Amino acid sequence: MVVQDKVAVITGAASGIGRKTACRYAEHGASVVVADVDAEGGAETVERISDDGGEATFVETDVTDPTEVRTAIETAVDEYGDLDVLFNNAGIEGSLNELAEWDDEAIEPVIDVNLKGVFYGLKYGIEAMLATGGGSIINTSSVGAATGINGRSMYCATKAGVNGLTRTAAVEYAEDDIRVNSVLPGTTDTPMIRRSDQERDTDRLQLNTSDAMEGRGQPRHLADAVLFLGSDLSARVTGVELPVDGGFLAGP
Ligand SMILES: NC(=O)c1ccc[n+]([C@@H]2O[C@H](COP(=O)([O-])OP(=O)(O)OC[C@H]3O[C@@H](n4cnc5c(N)ncnc54)[C@H](O)[C@@H]3O)[C@@H](O)[C@H]2O)c1
Repeated sequence: MVVQDKVAVITGAASGIGRKTACRYAEHGASVVVADVDAEGGAETVERISDDGGEATFVETDVTDPTEVRTAIETAVDEYGDLDVLFNNAGIEGSLNELAEWDDEAIEPVIDVNLKGVFYGLKYGIEAMLATGGGSIINTSSVGAATGINGRSMYCATKAGVNGLTRTAAVEYAEDDIRVNSVLPGTTDTPMIRRSDQERDTDRLQLNTSDAMEGRGQPRHLADAVLFLGSDLSARVTGVELPVDGGFLAGP
């Protein structure tokens, strides 16, 4: 029970990595605010947690809207009295096209969700944690922040931007007992990657990342890394970019 009695807000918690992390936090004794634009999926995450005897609330949240992000964070403080952990995890893959083939207007949604969404989470999460006495913020980046992924130029650019936000926030707020870290998932078996697998229908757009370890990463691998970073087990860890990629980035 490494996050017993902690309060966590998790964005993108209606599916994939976010949902698994929400369930894992609840199993380990945390109260969880499930924040997502998908109301049906969010309700299902809460139901799964409640069925297992855990505590969770859904707040419909579009992370591209700063007011909605602030409301999700305020819900944690209002309903559960604190904000210990914020997992800025919501993200979209955007278009799958070689760079010169991207429509200009396809750039915006990727920046809005993946980069501005994390910025708003940091801004209002830090504001709340300054008032409640510190905490841990984890942002979902990607191995795409450190390597090029065929067809995903803007995705990779926004995830590199997430690491820039992570490092800056970590140094700015270390003295306030606010830790800020990124996780870099490798290919992880979620609805996002399954959509992506189906879209990659030409040779030039084939996925060019591959784990050194056998098989594909599972949401629970990310959930456990985020559990560590949100718990006191990582009390001296801040500003890191933690790959959870089965050794992909360590390779050639
Ligand atoms: N699956 C992978 O292989 C992989 C690899 C690297 C990084 N990631 C990152 O992991 C994170 C989670 O992805 P996943 O694989 O679980 O995908 P997913 O599609 O299963 O889940 C993403 C969730 O984010 C939510 N979301 C999308 N836009 C939103 C918005 N504007 N506001 C609030 N919520 C929104 C979706 O509704 C969904 O519930 C993302 O940031 C993604 O970029 C995933």
